[in-house]
Amino acid sequence: MKFIPYGKQTIDQDDIDIVVQTLKSDFLTTGLKVNEFEQKIYEKTNAKYCVSVANGTAALHLSALALLNKGDKVLTTPNSFIATSNSILYANAIPIFIDICSDGSIDLDLCEEYLKQDSSITAIFAVSFSGKILDQEKLKYLKYKYNIKILEDNAHTMGVKLTYSDISIFSFHPVKHITTAEGGAIVTNDKSLYEKIKSLRNHGQDDKHNMTILGYNYRLSDINCALGISQLNKLAKFIQKRQAIAKKYNEAFDSHNIINPLYQYSNNSYYHLFVVQINFNKINITKEELINELRNKNIGVQVHYKPINKQPYYKSLGYGDEDTPNMDKYFEECLSLPVYPLLNSIEQEYVIQTIKELVDEK
Ligand SMILES: Cc1ncc(COP(=O)(O)O)c(C=O)c1O
Repeated sequence: MKFIPYGKQTIDQDDIDIVVQTLKSDFLTTGLKVNEFEQKIYEKTNAKYCVSVANGTAALHLSALALLNKGDKVLTTPNSFIATSNSILYANAIPIFIDICSDGSIDLDLCEEYLKQDSSITAIFAVSFSGKILDQEKLKYLKYKYNIKILEDNAHTMGVKLTYSDISIFSFHPVKHITTAEGGAIVTNDKSLYEKIKSLRNHGQDDKHNMTILGYNYRLSDINCALGISQLNKLAKFIQKRQAIAKKYNEAFDSHNIINPLYQYSNNSYYHLFVVQINFNKINITKEELINELRNKNIGVQVHYKPINKQPYYKSLGYGDEDTPNMDKYFEECLSLPVYPLLNSIEQEYVIQTIKELVDEK
């Protein structure tokens, strides 16, 4: 069996053709493809505005600058890629790490406990972890009741509709639902946020080239956007394929004693990741050994995520001792299995059988 990674892109001939056409056109950086890609994204997400950017991290960075002031306190999740909370630090604001609930996402009830006690909290940066859409009604309730800003990091949920949140961001890294190689986007319904983010993307200049704030060059090129347009046409198909793979994993591990999917199969998940939790207390192999054994057998599993608050840099800032029992237990048990549209049924069956064989009860 050739190596099966945990995620990878799907590139067809039509993706290649549109990129080649763009390379032969007059514009390589900001031409017509940028606007076309952005329009397709705001239409798909029911948002009024979209700003494409160089990557998902840039999307978070500019969003944090637009939403936060220095010293603001922001509730966020330890269970994400480091970029989510790093963006809060970029804005000189203060992340507060909240424990997760059973589906791996931030515990919004716990967020409310914090909001009740501390009126200086100004925002929540939440992640639709693994592709499961966040509870929109609860976010709406928290936003209006406590007068806070909400950013949804939807890097795992490309195309999800924007409802009540101030900003939603996406990433187009190759393991995500669609790719532009590197790339990201921000959607919002708020015109002033849109104007500010657009300016920050282009050195802080307005439409007349007056530099009014300190900005960056975070633009996404026409070449990347051309690929994005072509990929976006296939998004629904990609999500369906991922959901079909997830369904099969769920059936395979249904009532397994030791390997348990993070949550029951859900149409509300876009399955960027398929996470299982493994009870290592009941078996004779450690997590590290299992990962190595699987890699030796050409299966590229991953761990999503090491708690951000326990990363060495965050520890150096004084984080790491938060009371997050769910996150700590989750981190001991979690493993992400391969899921991507090109994973075929023979490969998936191989993954299922191999992991079942290695995870043998004591
Ligand atoms: C939840 C989350 N947020 C942000 C990012 C950052 O996106 P990018 O890699 O495009 O900078 C990622 C990607 O890895 C992610 O998974």
